[in-house]
Amino acid sequence: MPFSLRRLLQRPRTKSGLPHTANKPYHVAIIMDGNGRWAKQRGLPRTAGHRAGMAALRLTVRAAVELGIGVLTVYAFSTENWRRPKAEVDFLMNLPGQFLKTDLPELKQNNVRIRMSGSREGLPAHTLQAVDEAIAQTADNTGMILNFALNYGGRGEIIRAVRKLAKAVKAGVLEPEEITEELVSRALDTGALPDPDLLIRCSGEIRLSNFLLWQLAYAELWFTDVYWPDFDRSHLLAAINAYSKRDRRFGGIKGGEGLDV
Ligand code: FPP
Repeated sequence: MPFSLRRLLQRPRTKSGLPHTANKPYHVAIIMDGNGRWAKQRGLPRTAGHRAGMAALRLTVRAAVELGIGVLTVYAFSTENWRRPKAEVDFLMNLPGQFLKTDLPELKQNNVRIRMSGSREGLPAHTLQAVDEAIAQTADNTGMILNFALNYGGRGEIIRAVRKLAKAVKAGVLEPEEITEELVSRALDTGALPDPDLLIRCSGEIRLSNFLLWQLAYAELWFTDVYWPDFDRSHLLAAINAYSKRDRRFGGIKGGEGLDV
C-alpha cells in the first residue's frame, strides 16, 4: 500500500500539541518575492535578482538559526512558476543545487535539517538529487528545520493529501469519520511540522499566492515593501518584533473564560 496510516500518526505535530503562543514564532514561513523587480531597478537581468535572492536567503537562514527559530519554510518555486520563460525556470532549478553546494557545510555546522515540501513530479533529476542529498546528509540534525517549498502549490498539496486519505479509506484502514484536522495536517507535505506562526511576504504584494493555504489558517501575517534581495536580519527581527506584540486568540477571547457581556 503506498500510504501508511501508522506512519502518518506516528509523531505529534508539536511538543505540546497546541499552537505556539509564545512571543517568539516557532515556525516562520517566507514568500521571497521581488527578485525580478530588484534586478529591473538596477538594469540587471532577472537572473541577477535570483542570485542576489540566494545571498539574502543565506543571511536569513543564519539569522533565523541565531534567533532560535524552529522551522523556516521558504517559497523557492511555486507550481505556477513553470509559466515563466524556460531559461528562467532552468536558472531557478539550478538554485537549490548551487545554494546547497556552497552552504551545506555551514548548514550542517549549524545543526540545520533540510526538508522539502512540494511535488517531486516534474522537477529535474539534478534538482531532486541536490535536495535529496542535503536531506540525507542533515537527517540526524536536531536544530532548525529549513523547509524548501519547491514545486509547491497549496491546492495541489491538499489534493495529494486528500488522495492519500481517500486511498486509506478505500483500503479499509481508515473510516471517513476518523478524518480530523490533525490527520489532514499530517497528510500534507509539511507532515509533522507545526503550522507556521508567522508568514512574511516582501516586495509589497499582499496575497498568499497558493502558499501553505491550510497551514496558514491562524498565522500572523507580516508584509514589507522590501524586495527579497534586500531582506536581511533587520527585517526578520522587525517581523518577529511585530509578531511578539500580536494578540493571538485563535478564535477565542483573551483570558479564555468568563462571560462579562
Ligand atoms: C520571486 O521573485 C522569487 C522566486 C520565484 C524565486 C525565489 C528564489 C530565491 C529567493 C533564490 C534562492 C532560492 C534557492 C532555492 C536557494 P520574482 O522573480 O517573482 O520577483 P518579481 O515579482 O519582482 O518578478
